[in-house]
Amino acid sequence: LYRGLQDADAHRHDLLVTFGGGVVSDVGGFAGSTYARGMQLIHVPTTLLGQVDAAIGGKTGINLQEAKNLVGTIYQPSAVVCDVTFLASCPPEEISSGMAEVIKYGFIVDPDILDLVVRRRSDIEAKDTQVMLDIVARCVAIKASIVSSDERESGERAFLNYGHTFAHGIEAAAGFTGIRHGEAVAIGMMAAALTARELGRIDDDVVALHRSTLRSAGLPTGARLDLQRLEQAWKHDKKYRGGVRFVLLMGLGKPEADVKVPREVLEKVVELVGQEGTS
Ligand SMILES: NC(=O)c1ccc[n+]([C@@H]2O[C@H](COP(=O)([O-])OP(=O)(O)OC[C@H]3O[C@@H](n4cnc5c(N)ncnc54)[C@H](O)[C@@H]3O)[C@@H](O)[C@H]2O)c1
Ligand SMILES: [Zn+2]
Repeated sequence: LYRGLQDADAHRHDLLVTFGGGVVSDVGGFAGSTYARGMQLIHVPTTLLGQVDAAIGGKTGINLQEAKNLVGTIYQPSAVVCDVTFLASCPPEEISSGMAEVIKYGFIVDPDILDLVVRRRSDIEAKDTQVMLDIVARCVAIKASIVSSDERESGERAFLNYGHTFAHGIEAAAGFTGIRHGEAVAIGMMAAALTARELGRIDDDVVALHRSTLRSAGLPTGARLDLQRLEQAWKHDKKYRGGVRFVLLMGLGKPEADVKVPREVLEKVVELVGQEGTS
């Protein structure tokens, strides 16, 4: 990308437009934020996951072999243009993957979203323009509000990592292939819910709501995981500080960040996640 920008005679006042899914906005955003010490940038996300999450908030990054987004910047685009008609050509699995982040906002901020996801399931599958606009607009508003009050993640921005500690471990253990980000986040949220229940923070009903909502969106809730491999990935995580920390719920819409979890609990959770069905 850098070579391409140079060959195109790009300068810092030129505009770089990324057009694609989260991978394109992450990588293109990283290139645009570092080339000539930062170009003007506009994201045009074309996947649901890109529209509700990846293109908003300025995080850019690339993976190293061991860990996700270990090299990256926080660099705000001048604009993000979401057009839900782009979703028409997205395969169902990519819509499901994006729904994982939508459901995440439901659990951490606005439980009405969970109801919407289940109630409008067939309209979502049909990518009904009105329902997709409603979903994208709600999620963009939530993310933009959180990021504008805590851009550098010293507080509430961390809540957006709900399900992501397990997810990043799952993705790294898989070598970043064969599993979509949203699928890993779905399993990660289920694992976070089971962890919270084991710690007595939430009851079975909230765990069951995770399972039913995620499955309704066509997402997996279980996987055979290897705790040692997850731990290896967590050690390389940029947020690792003398141990891995989790975002866990105290109830619907009540997340808490920076929670340490005893290893025995993680062992139990890995076992329970292994017993969950995958669809
Ligand atoms: N920066 C952030 O804050 C942030 C937040 C969430 C996720 N992410 C990152 O985003 C990535 C996932 O993004 P994604 O789910 O968009 O995946 P992706 O970018 O890999 O896109 C998924 C697939 O859809 C295809 N595609 C894109 N637009 C399409 C369209 N309109 N029609 C048909 N196919 C289309 C792509 O070519 C690709 O094969 C992960 O790497 C994740 O870590 C970043
Ligand atoms: Zn994510």
